[in-house]
Amino acid sequence: MKKGNMIIKNASEIITCSGDKAKFGKDMSEIAMLKNATLVIENGMIKDIGNSDNILKKYIETNYEVIDAKGKTVLPGFIDSHTHFIFAGYRAEEFSWRLRGDSYMDIMNRGGGIVNSVMGTRNASKEELFDLGKKRLDSMLQFGVTTVEGKSGYGLDFDTELKQLKVMEELDKVHPVDICKTFLGAHAVPNEYKGRTDEYIDFMLDKVLPKVAEDKLAEFCDVFCEKGVFTVKESRKILLKAKKLGMKLKIHADEIVQLGGAELAAEVGAFSADHLLHASDKGIEDMSKNGVVSTLLPTTAFCLKEPFARARHMIDSGCAVALATDFNPGSGFTNSIPLMFALATIYMNMSIEEAINAMTINGAAAIGRADTVGSIDIGKKGDVVILEYPSYKFLPYNTGVNIVEKVIKNGVLVHRK
Ligand code: NIG
Ligand code: FE
Repeated sequence: MKKGNMIIKNASEIITCSGDKAKFGKDMSEIAMLKNATLVIENGMIKDIGNSDNILKKYIETNYEVIDAKGKTVLPGFIDSHTHFIFAGYRAEEFSWRLRGDSYMDIMNRGGGIVNSVMGTRNASKEELFDLGKKRLDSMLQFGVTTVEGKSGYGLDFDTELKQLKVMEELDKVHPVDICKTFLGAHAVPNEYKGRTDEYIDFMLDKVLPKVAEDKLAEFCDVFCEKGVFTVKESRKILLKAKKLGMKLKIHADEIVQLGGAELAAEVGAFSADHLLHASDKGIEDMSKNGVVSTLLPTTAFCLKEPFARARHMIDSGCAVALATDFNPGSGFTNSIPLMFALATIYMNMSIEEAINAMTINGAAAIGRADTVGSIDIGKKGDVVILEYPSYKFLPYNTGVNIVEKVIKNGVLVHRK
């Protein structure tokens, strides 16, 4: 039996989320379900899928690792398309201040926030960051995440930005979870450049970004476009330079105030605009018309005690919504897929089907990988999650509980409850 050859048979349901691009608007309701179905993976890739009786006639089971999924639900591996999982140092104290009533921006303005995590990350060795990153990936895997996007942005200097990206590169080689790397040098202005934002941007654009692009250390470039951080004009400058260097684009957009980040994402051809708590009607229309994935991060809004993004309005306006955790040490220190799913379905009025597409095929599209992951389609990677219950409807029903029983990556069982 070859590694990466697997048959998952007799599943009560297989949800395929079939497709090779983002699902927009009404199409987000379609999850493509097969009942009493069997899935065949060969050499790590999806080979066949269909009714159990038909499929099992065609293959010799002894050539495969066989999992009997009777009474279980099979889904594509989840894609967490927005995280900041490489950092050192924690900000539990800041969270307690927020519970007491301080805002995220109050804390940032008095010298806390992102620059606090920058100190910890600069001081950490590559080995320390690697060990922390590995533990965090292990935890994501247990939630069914088989591909994750990870950002730099806690270095804000040449060496530490590169260190973060290189740690992710190393982790990608040894860990089952695939990593899509994003350069976020424009996450904040570090203390040594305080009051000299222009100089900091020039340093990033002239010294750091070209090195990142040349050495292919990141696929994406992102920017924190926010009042008091980087303006729309500054964000545009950064993103257009990255685009010129061949990088794909993302934006932290309209998180705390309505600045026009969603509109900018459409203008520069970003793959996604993320957060969007305060995105304008025009921004939402622009994203939908220009094929920008609207990545929503409900656990962050929840932890900031801010209103949730207008998911319903976005989908009804024809947007492609993705869901991600935004796992980070500040605004939302949680990688909980069940919490994210509960908030999206209970408070943001997304249907269960829309939420599933949002964390599979649309998450994949947000990181430019919808042709290889995010759905159970022949020819895609054999990345699969098995739930311990017979229907996908248990996802919101078993509220806030992790019901992922098994995780398969490239046709290999990598996690079992
Ligand atoms: O996506 N908003 C900016 N960046 C992160 C928070 C980073 C931090 O607080 O450390 C976010 O929410
Ligand atoms: Fe973020």
